[in-house]
Amino acid sequence: MKIAVLPGDGIGPEVTAAAVAVLNALALPGLTLFEGDVGGIAYKRHGHPLPPETLAMAREADAVLFGAVGDPSCDSLERHLRPEQAILALRKELGLFANLRPARVFAGLEHLSPLRADIAASLDMLIVRELTGDVYFGAKGRRVSEAGEHEGWDAMSYAEHEVRRIAHVAFRAAEAAGLPLTSVDKANVLETSQLWRDVVIEVAAEYPDVTFDHMYVDNAAMQVVSHPDRFGVILTGNLFGDILSDLASAAVGSIGLLPSASLGERETAFGTFGLYEPIHGSAPDIAGQGKANPMATILSAAMMLRHSFGLDAEAARIESAVAAALADGFLGGDLGGSHGTAAIGEAVRARL
Ligand code: IPM
Ligand code: MG
Repeated sequence: MKIAVLPGDGIGPEVTAAAVAVLNALALPGLTLFEGDVGGIAYKRHGHPLPPETLAMAREADAVLFGAVGDPSCDSLERHLRPEQAILALRKELGLFANLRPARVFAGLEHLSPLRADIAASLDMLIVRELTGDVYFGAKGRRVSEAGEHEGWDAMSYAEHEVRRIAHVAFRAAEAAGLPLTSVDKANVLETSQLWRDVVIEVAAEYPDVTFDHMYVDNAAMQVVSHPDRFGVILTGNLFGDILSDLASAAVGSIGLLPSASLGERETAFGTFGLYEPIHGSAPDIAGQGKANPMATILSAAMMLRHSFGLDAEAARIESAVAAALADGFLGGDLGGSHGTAAIGEAVRARL
């Protein structure tokens, strides 16, 4: 079981180290870890945010554990050399079109949410975000209008097969969990969304047991924080999923608690190949100070054990240990606590 560990920038190395320590504590036989450079650090060392050796390492692995990319000192580089391009290229190159972002308020931790406790208690949803299409990967550029004004443009599009395959992922998840599915789009304005909606309706016909509806993204943003109980699985595109998942994480209490799995169609000897990363970024303001909350990355490692290695029991052990550490008050600064990366990592390991 080969895992490529790509720590990246900012707090990435700290949070991935904590997650690796949790994996090591489980002493799983046959686990081998490799480490590679990605993001701003890779640009500085190798002249590219995703060096060919790193991509090759990711391809050879059965799963990738990813930290974060983003470095303010790289913000003025040409776009294709910026750290963020590394994660976008990894997703695209590895065919990881399905991004699973579960968001739930742990029982007893409703007070960590900025929502009223009774509303927070009902927040338990899975956001299924399409990850390799949409306006993220369309043509983009600058142009000068006839009046001589500079304009920026980005093309949004979805092909039928892209919508179909992500819809199947979401419907299968909803069916397996007995949850309702809401497809989120902006079909009242965007043609891309109208096609999305048409295809989702076709796919839905194959899942007669799943209750489903459509919702415009602006309304969905409102409902996620006012009536989170009305969501089970949210199926949505790349851009809307990016925004709604940050919103859902803030509703949970912190972006420092939300893991993610990015999956494609490739099966390995152990499970589905995937890339696992916290949904937070590199947080350069607190990097290197041992302050980052590693829980989102630790929970991402749990998702990795489940999806890429079929180790459901071990995944559940990690998740319970994180919940127990939270319940015992091991809160990072993101949650108003004062525990650092090392203390939180240790608290989780002690509760495995
Ligand atoms: C995320 C991040 C990325 C995205 C950035 C870093 C490119 O915000 O994973 O949600 O927009 O997908
Ligand atoms: Mg995001």
